[in-house]
Amino acid sequence: MPAFSTSAPGKVILFGEHAVVYGQPAIAVPVKEISAKVIASPLINASRGVIRIEAPQVSIDSDMAELSDTDPLAAAVRATLKALEIEQPPAFKLHISSSIPLAAGLGSGAAVSVAIARAVSAFIGKPLPDERVSAIAFEVEKLHHGTPSGIDNTVITYKKPVYFVRGEPIQTFQVAVPFSLLIADTGIPSPTRIAVGDVRMALESEPERFDKIFRQIGEIAKKAKNAIEAGENQKLGSLMNENHGYLKEMNVSSAELDKLVEAAQAAGALGAKLSGGGRGGNMIAVVNTNDFEAVEKAIQAAGAKGMIRTTVQ
Ligand code: PMV
Repeated sequence: MPAFSTSAPGKVILFGEHAVVYGQPAIAVPVKEISAKVIASPLINASRGVIRIEAPQVSIDSDMAELSDTDPLAAAVRATLKALEIEQPPAFKLHISSSIPLAAGLGSGAAVSVAIARAVSAFIGKPLPDERVSAIAFEVEKLHHGTPSGIDNTVITYKKPVYFVRGEPIQTFQVAVPFSLLIADTGIPSPTRIAVGDVRMALESEPERFDKIFRQIGEIAKKAKNAIEAGENQKLGSLMNENHGYLKEMNVSSAELDKLVEAAQAAGALGAKLSGGGRGGNMIAVVNTNDFEAVEKAIQAAGAKGMIRTTVQ
């Protein structure tokens, strides 16, 4: 059996995080500059069913049987074998690596699961279709997020900009005029589960206020889709600023995120907001090519720990 190597991109949410968990639309795009990579290769001389997992960045070098049921790497492999209806595969080894920062709102968990599902199913000789790959990554997300909307696994599996509504079939759309994004890291890890849990509690104590915020964010996501399809990138920027305001009202921003967002806005970005679960992780800014350097400098001075440039097209 030959070795198989697969990779899956990172992602950012442009509009609608948190509100998407409660049925509002959201927009996410793949970020191809960062990725998770998985190589599946035969384990010579090992008996059937033995699966070795090597993930040096998280200090894992073990037989899968030694990893707990809640380990996300083992969970992705087990879910893939279950989808393939295989109990005793030929012995193989998975080497897992990723350039996607962990717990930063860039989809590292979903990207690793997608790459595992693709590598394992290709190695076994039965590559799974996108729909099944996405479903496997969603199952693994549930272990850690509790109530994921499904947006991460969807955008990462299909590698296209998506307009996502929980529980509905995937909708893609055309980007009329490509636009550039600057993604900047606060350097503060922020597990999504905690921010999502806090929003749920806040919703329970102030249902009317939060329902209203969610609906307003949903309206922004709808307008943003129209703006992207019409090539109105200036408008896209103002919608981002507006969306960030609502995320602040929901208490999922932080002083560090606000500082980066404000620095980008003051240095000439068309718009900026936090992206993903919030509290820490990354912010994004839509920036005209000519203003990139000025915005990068300003964000750096405001404390960014890392930056990625990407183009949405
Ligand atoms: O922090 P991330 O990028 O994994 O995204 C979380 C997005 C939320 O809307 C907050 C949660 C979800 O499951 O959609």
